[in-house]
Amino acid sequence: MFTTAPSKSATANLPLDLFAAINELKQELNAVILAHYYQESDIQDIADYIGDSLGLSRQAAATDAEVIVFAGVHFMAETAKILNPDKLVLLPDLDAGCSLADTCPPDQFAAFKAQHPDHIVVSYINCSAEIKAMSDIICTSSNAVSLIEQIPADQPIIFAPDKNLGRYVMQQTGRDLVLWQGSCMVHEIFSEKKLVQLKMTHPEAEIIAHPECEEPVLQHADFIGSTTALLKYVQRSDRPQFIVVTEPGIIHQMEKQVPNKQFIPAPATGNCACNECPHMRLNTLEKLYLAMKHRQPEITMPEATRVAALKPIQAMLRMSA
Ligand code: 13P
Ligand code: SF4
Repeated sequence: MFTTAPSKSATANLPLDLFAAINELKQELNAVILAHYYQESDIQDIADYIGDSLGLSRQAAATDAEVIVFAGVHFMAETAKILNPDKLVLLPDLDAGCSLADTCPPDQFAAFKAQHPDHIVVSYINCSAEIKAMSDIICTSSNAVSLIEQIPADQPIIFAPDKNLGRYVMQQTGRDLVLWQGSCMVHEIFSEKKLVQLKMTHPEAEIIAHPECEEPVLQHADFIGSTTALLKYVQRSDRPQFIVVTEPGIIHQMEKQVPNKQFIPAPATGNCACNECPHMRLNTLEKLYLAMKHRQPEITMPEATRVAALKPIQAMLRMSA
C-alpha cells in the first residue's frame, strides 16, 4: 500500500511524459480511468470519463474494461468495486478518504438504526461500504430528491450521513426525515459573510452551490445542484459570471466547456485554500501512473459486506434509470 506521498525511489524513475505513459498502460491493462470533478486538472484531462457520483457509478456499472482506475475518493472506488467484484479497482492513494463518510462510524450507525426499527435507510453515497450494507437505498446529490419522492409518504425514513443534504431534501420534498448529523468539512468552510461581500462587488454574478453547504450559504444561491448539475447550469444560464460554492476543481471543467464566462471560487472562512478537498487532492498524476504500473493500491472488502452493499446501490440505479 502507498502512503500519502510516493517515496523518492518510487518517483525517481518516473517517465518524462506521464500522459503518454499512462495512455500506454491503459492499453496494456485494458483499463478505464474514471475521475471526479474535484480531481486536479491533469487527472481530469487524462480521464476517460469525468463526472459526479451518480455518473461515475453508472460508468462503473457499465464498463467492460478489465481494470478500473478510480481518480476520486475511497467510497467512490469502493462503489465501483461493489459493482465489479471480478475487476481490479485501483485508487491512486488509498488514504484518499472523505470527512463526511468518516462522520458515520458503522457501530454508532447500527445503534442509531436500531432506535428506529420502522424506518428505512436512505444513505448518501458518501459513506463506507459498511454503512451501505445497512441501507435500503443509496442516493447521490443529483437524485436524492427524486428518490425520496418515490418512497410512499407514510414510510418513515432515516437519511444519512449528510445533515445538510438531508435538510435540503426535506425542504424540497416536504418530507420529515430522521437525519444523521454528519457533514463535509469542505462544504462547511464557506463564509456567508465573505460570500455576500463578493456578491456586492460582482452584482452580475450568479451564486451556484452544492447542497452539502450549510443553510445560511445556500440561502444566497441562485442555483443548487450536484457537480454535474452545476456544470450544466453554467452552460445554459445567460449570465457572464458565477460564484462557485463547491470544491474549486469543478472550475477546470467549467472553464473548458464555457470559456467565455468567468468563474470565481467562493471564499472560505479563514485565509486558506481549505475549500479544496484535502482527500480528493491526495491523488496526483504521478500516483495514478504508479498505481497503474504496479497494479496497486487495490480496493478490496469482505464479500458479505459487498453483497449487502450492492442491493441499495442497485436500487438507486433502478430508481434513477
Ligand atoms: P457530486 O455527486 O455532486 O459530485 O458530489 C460528490 C462530493 O463528494 C461532493 O462533496
Ligand atoms: Fe468528502 Fe467533502 Fe471531499 Fe466530497 S468534498 S469527498 S464530501 S470531504
